[in-house]
Amino acid sequence: MYHYSELGQVNTREMFKKAYDEGYAVPAFNFVSIEQFNGIMDAVIEKRSPVILLASPNLHKQLGYEMLARIVQSGTDRIRNQGLDIPVALHLDHGMTFAQCVDAVEFGFSSIMIDGSALPFKDNVALTKKTVEYAHRHGVTVEAELGVLSGAEEGGDVGHHESLYTDPGMVEEFAKETGCDSLAISIGTCHGLVKIKANPDGTLPELRYDILEDVMRRVPGFPIVLHGASTIEPRFVDMINAYGGHIEAVAGIPEEQVTKAARMGVCKVNIATDGWISALANTRKILAENPGAIDSRVFTLKNRGLLKEIYLHKIDVMGSAYKA
Ligand code: 13P
Repeated sequence: MYHYSELGQVNTREMFKKAYDEGYAVPAFNFVSIEQFNGIMDAVIEKRSPVILLASPNLHKQLGYEMLARIVQSGTDRIRNQGLDIPVALHLDHGMTFAQCVDAVEFGFSSIMIDGSALPFKDNVALTKKTVEYAHRHGVTVEAELGVLSGAEEGGDVGHHESLYTDPGMVEEFAKETGCDSLAISIGTCHGLVKIKANPDGTLPELRYDILEDVMRRVPGFPIVLHGASTIEPRFVDMINAYGGHIEAVAGIPEEQVTKAARMGVCKVNIATDGWISALANTRKILAENPGAIDSRVFTLKNRGLLKEIYLHKIDVMGSAYKA
């Protein structure tokens, strides 16, 4: 078992305070491969941006705890060896049970999410409060969720089919009762490829900034989180479909809407799908162009470069690059 500081990480408390004060969001990126992890680290080191590494409960099933620890440590070592001061948090994304959160804290995560959003309010409060009491004894910060996002996450863990906007009237009581450190709210973003529908005139609907504003008025300075904020660039959807895949073209969350939310006070924005579809599209294309390939490095190295570009751009969208 590790303590999170041994892995070179920090919890989210100071990160969020700085982000809120300076009007940017800390990028939170899911990773499922070493190339993706390296692409994230390449980008945050170049931009000197804080980062939250999102690991779902499935990721440690895939990699094992030891491997996950070594990967994360390799990233924080790179930062330290270059004499840089870039905060990194390892965060459990969508912990669905108290047991999953305990596992993550014991392993050395510096931050966790307990997602009781599908539960009735009272049960969400009870589960979150219990998790917060446990995590805080270990110096670990806790994100909770109020309101339901539609869409499915990695492995179908988060499979809500309806979107239920957060009721701002419940936020203050929820934050006070549970003691959580940050709160994911539902203002129109969606997980995965189930994104927004265009208006009849072809324009895209706006996120519900009115809900965000109302929430922020009721809990000023409290860190608010946006999940489901991928853009879904059509070029990658087209590439996947051109090289043997079949996915629906959907509209993601326009980048300027994410930037606006970050400037308004959202402290953390989660991105998974944009990383996955870009690397997968590139892999399909490279394999189609190299039918005799027998070594996965034909695509892994190129994917790292592409992912770095994707994450550099996300950091600009969220405004989190170091400003001298
Ligand atoms: P996207 O599916 O929009 O990338 O959102 C990911 C997410 O919110 C992870 O928790």
